[in-house]
Amino acid sequence: MFNHDLILGILGGGQLEKMSAMSAAELGIKVIIYTDEQDAPASQVAYKTINGALDDLEALEQFAQHVDIITYEFENMPLESIKHLQKFKPVLPDERLLEISQHRIREKTFLNDLGIKTTNWHPVSRVEDVEKLFKETNQSAFIIKTNRFGYDGKGQVKVKIDQDFKKEFGSLKTTDLIAEEIVDFMAEISVIVARDKTGRLVNYPPVVNEHKNHILHKTIAPAEMPPEILGKAIEAAYKVANEIDLIGVLSVEYFVTAEGEVLANEIAPRPHNSGHWTIDACDFSQFDQHVRAVCALDVIPPYQHSKAEMINLIGDDVKECDKYLRQEKTHLHLYGKKEIRPGRKMGHVTILK
Ligand SMILES: Nc1ncnc2c1ncn2[C@@H]1O[C@H](COP(=O)(O)OP(=O)(O)O)[C@@H](O)[C@H]1O
Ligand SMILES: [Mg+2]
Repeated sequence: MFNHDLILGILGGGQLEKMSAMSAAELGIKVIIYTDEQDAPASQVAYKTINGALDDLEALEQFAQHVDIITYEFENMPLESIKHLQKFKPVLPDERLLEISQHRIREKTFLNDLGIKTTNWHPVSRVEDVEKLFKETNQSAFIIKTNRFGYDGKGQVKVKIDQDFKKEFGSLKTTDLIAEEIVDFMAEISVIVARDKTGRLVNYPPVVNEHKNHILHKTIAPAEMPPEILGKAIEAAYKVANEIDLIGVLSVEYFVTAEGEVLANEIAPRPHNSGHWTIDACDFSQFDQHVRAVCALDVIPPYQHSKAEMINLIGDDVKECDKYLRQEKTHLHLYGKKEIRPGRKMGHVTILK
């Protein structure tokens, strides 16, 4: 029986949380946002907001008292905070997924153990480790990434064999690092899956993602690619979701090589930017499925009724919103962020084809 008084607590107050709160509102589910940000995007549509630091255990406990279920759409949530909240209310998805996706080496080890291919990678902590790799492998360049807290290309540098890369390396400011072999990819794709408490698993069609300055620029849905390639991507995402008994939504990003290899790059334990098009081009969006799954409702096999292209409005791009407002078949989504900053996701548009 559907609980008409359900209150969903969401940790984080950005655009993902805002779009989930809107899906929850459609079902009459009240959302309380917990965020350290004043006037957060999600607060603009939520029932209530509780402001507090993400590691303030006392404030988090207060928040837990006000809600029935808790979810998060922010993978850098401190694990301690999630574990503390679990003492009071269910937190979904459970922390195992968070633990895996918070650390690149843990993530790649998890994927490889499931038989899912990634690029070749090596743990490194010092410049000398990279110099050694150049001697021991046939690679002429690597991408060095911080294992934690990277997003939108932050916390990563490219190093080349014939360059002095001490300065770039030092800019990463940590020794907890991974060196990845550079994939000469033909395309980047991603798959979003949703799984509910009964184990029902559904997926959106894989999509093609184009990045600019390491930030997602455009998503094309669906990906027009040979079915064997798309099948491999879907199968791997299903494996991940089943392995961790997912209740919620996750996405897996892949590189596709010219030889048709599909290499997993990252797991996001939440709705993903490459799934924003699902709001306007599908009967049920990734946010609808996420809310359904964490609130113990069924996920529904989604139906894509239109081909779509999603374009992110990054920084000053948002100033072009008037153009999109006048354009047919174009859905403009603005996140309600006051300050425009370079690289900041201000909104997106979905153009139906
Ligand atoms: N090993 C790699 N080979 C080639 N390109 C890469 C590699 N790793 C990252 N990139 C490029 O950088 C982008 C961002 O890297 P990613 O690992 O997804 O980090 P994040 O999204 O957390 O910043 C990728 O989408 C891809 O375009
Ligand atoms: Mg990424």
